[in-house]
Parts: sequence; structure tokens; C-alpha cells
Amino acid sequence: MTSMKAILLAGGAGTRLHPLTRVVSKQLLPVYDKPMVYYPLSVLMLAGIRDVLFISTPRDLPLFRELFGDGAALGMRFAYAEQPRPEGLAQAFLIGRDFLAGGPGCLILGDNIFYGHGLPTLLRRAAKLTSGARVFAYQVRDPERYGVIEFDPATGQAISIEEKPVTPRSPFAIPGLYFYDGRVCDLAATLKPGARGELEITDLNRLYLQSGELTVERLGRGVAWLDTGTQDSLADATAFVRAIQDRQALKIACIEEIALENHWITPAALVAAAIQMGKSPYANYLRARAEGGVSGE
Ligand code: G1P
Repeated sequence: MTSMKAILLAGGAGTRLHPLTRVVSKQLLPVYDKPMVYYPLSVLMLAGIRDVLFISTPRDLPLFRELFGDGAALGMRFAYAEQPRPEGLAQAFLIGRDFLAGGPGCLILGDNIFYGHGLPTLLRRAAKLTSGARVFAYQVRDPERYGVIEFDPATGQAISIEEKPVTPRSPFAIPGLYFYDGRVCDLAATLKPGARGELEITDLNRLYLQSGELTVERLGRGVAWLDTGTQDSLADATAFVRAIQDRQALKIACIEEIALENHWITPAALVAAAIQMGKSPYANYLRARAEGGVSGE
């Protein structure tokens, strides 16, 4: 079991999705049958991480608290903190300093969806990190929208990292999932706002790269990293989840099921969760899973 804790950042104004996000956080919008934030939370759980700090806006934080409570229903421990203004992803490590208490920390963005074979193994390995930093690289059609990592063609070593470059040096984007050692809060405290006036996670990653302590793991074809930043990509994510779930009769990001598989809760806890969710298909799935009626691997 890992001692790594995680921060799930669900801030931002979500203006690119207005009017969908006029009155509610983007990370609470539906991705097919569950709120978007279930997906990144499930990734942390697959990594074996039990302590999670949710950071959101003063307006939206109470909704996350209402949705997840203290985490005990999942056999987890949840904490909550406000990000008063959207001043950058790396600010999560200033807000989360007391929570991490000098230990290693993972950051996941509340709008990033990952799915694929082999992901749990890779996540568990990353969560054991005790020195340096680990990020991932994923080939995309439009790298200019992301943090971009460049590799030396001869050695395969990462050599540069840039935030939303106009002319990307590679097609490899860095997804919103980062693992850091216990120095992360001190390093984040040295950052200055970048070109868009925010504390950039890319600048934090560059500090680790420059000291030779950044490891980059490529996510291959077998992994889906889905974007939810635009109406179209959000609709695509919904279609993707729907298609796979319907085909296999297995749910993606069913957090109660993952907690059960991690031995963090008992089948009775799934029944209790199902009662709260009434007659929904999600509730039926939990009941079936509690009775051992769903098979995974
Ligand atoms: C942020 C990061 C970027 C990263 C992306 C992943 O971008 O700054 O490096 O690739 O998340 O989703 P933003 O969502 O702030 O545009």
C-alpha cells in the first residue's frame, strides 16, 4: 500500500463550456452515467491512493463535499480546500502543503479521463515513487493545446518541456496526472507566474527535468486519454464510456466497485450506496456487484 497522497484539482471557471458551466463546476458535468470527477478519482483509487484532497472554487467546493463526504463510504479519507482564484495548477501544492505534510504527492486534474489495459499496474508503480517526479506522455493530433514533452531521438530521454507551444517539438502531450516526491511543495513555492499569469505545472515539471529527476512514461495505443475541454470532446467522452460499458456490461470508474476490489469496503457498503441511488442503472450495478454477479478481469 502506498503512502502517497493525492490532490484532485477541480477548479477553473470552465468558460469554454458556457452555458453548461454557468452555475456548476465542469468537473460535475455528466460523462454518460456519472459525474466527470468520478473518472479521475477512480484513477487515484486504482493507484492505491486512499488520501485525497479536493481543491475547487469557493462556489463549487460544497458540492464536492456533498457528493463525497469524508470518504469513509469508500474506505478513503477525503479533505477539501478552496482555490479562491484560478492561479494555476501548481498552486495546488501551495494550497495542499499542510495536507501533504512533506510527503510525496500526486496531482490529477478533475477533467482528465484515462482508460485502458495495463493502467492499474502503471499507476501502482508510479504511486510508489519516493524520489523525483513521474509524468506521462501521450501522442495526440493537437499537442499545441497541452504541455508538450520532447524526446532525444537517439536516447529516448526527455529533453524539453513546454506549455502550449505554438510550434510543438513533438506530438507528445503530458496528461493531467503527475507524481512527485516530498520536495514538491518547496519547489512549487519557488515558481513565478508564466505567460498566462498562472503558476504552471509545466514549470514545476521543468525543474525536475533540469535536475535529471523527471521520468516520463509513454502511454501507448492501448490507453485512452480523453479530453473534456470542449463540447465535442465532452460528447465524445460520453459516447466512448457508453459504448464500452454497454458492450462489456462493466462500468468504467465505478468507485464503489474499485473500493471493493481494493478490499477497502465490504459488499454491504455497495448495497448501502445502492440504496442511496434509488432505481438508477448505477444502483442496480452496485447491487449485482455486491452479490458477486459482475466479473471483471
Ligand atoms: C493543463 C496543463 C497542461 C496539460 C493539460 C492536461 O492545461 O497546463 O500542461 O497538458 O492540463 O489536461 P489546461 O487544462 O490548463 O489548459
